[in-house]
Amino acid sequence: MENTKYVHGYSEREALRLNDQAETLDDIIHNDSIFPKDSLVLEAGCGVGAQTKIIATKNPDTNFISVDLSEDSIKEAKGMIKSLGINNVEVKQADIYKLPFKDETFDSVIICFVLEHLTHPIKALHELKRVLKKGGTMVAIEGDHGSTFFYPDSKYAYAAINCQIKLQKQSGGNSNIGRELYPLFKSIGLTGISVSPRMVYVDSSRPKLVEGFIKNTFTAMIEGIGKDAIRQGITDSITFEKGIKDLYRTAESDGVFCYTFFKGFGEKL
Ligand SMILES: C[S@@+](CC[C@H](N)C(=O)[O-])C[C@H]1O[C@@H](n2cnc3c(N)ncnc32)[C@H](O)[C@@H]1O
Repeated sequence: MENTKYVHGYSEREALRLNDQAETLDDIIHNDSIFPKDSLVLEAGCGVGAQTKIIATKNPDTNFISVDLSEDSIKEAKGMIKSLGINNVEVKQADIYKLPFKDETFDSVIICFVLEHLTHPIKALHELKRVLKKGGTMVAIEGDHGSTFFYPDSKYAYAAINCQIKLQKQSGGNSNIGRELYPLFKSIGLTGISVSPRMVYVDSSRPKLVEGFIKNTFTAMIEGIGKDAIRQGITDSITFEKGIKDLYRTAESDGVFCYTFFKGFGEKL
């Protein structure tokens, strides 16, 4: 990643979290991740392949090239693809800012949960547009931590979330980038742009989302940055632990949790 440190790191726990996140959100963010038969799609920033296995399985007649900067993640993604017998994906190490592909190579490009970590999202999007064919579609999916609300309310829980927002900002990213997908796509000259909010609403009548989203995706993500936030003096351990406890509290039988992802589609003229 250009001059930055990936805020969540590359631990085994983070790989597990990315997989939980992808499986839990499949219906919400990938219900329309459908690509034409025999087309070539670039997945930019595939990480350990958590989204790759979903989109590749949904589109068995489409060919994917999935790239990431992290050598370790690439290795893991390759192993996973092989173990699942997925044969329509090629995984490669590459930097989104300098893609090793000729202009207009791909019919579509998809980027999921990556722009939020980049110091220069517009530069990255221009590079993705370069390798996209004329008439091709760019798809981006991003979260927005500012869209989080829950019951019971808790200033400690918000403070813990803010630690993540601050840390991500310090490493050049933007945890609230979801709301910017439309202006970002506009700024790189895409047309026919359509952005839709994908709200995840969770209460205890949706036990799969209580486990998969409140606990294993969102709270696990915030919990994961605790040590860094405390080390950097952004918070103290007592305040942070209260915040985490209150986030888990929203997963109890009377709790409610809401978060909105944004998915954008745009076309290259
Ligand atoms: C939050 S992970 C998302 C991974 C995957 N898309 C998913 O949703 O599970 C962000 C990924 O972006 C990758 N990344 C960040 N900057 C990159 C760059 N300049 N080029 C390629 N990959 C990059 C990181 O290595 C990391 O794997």
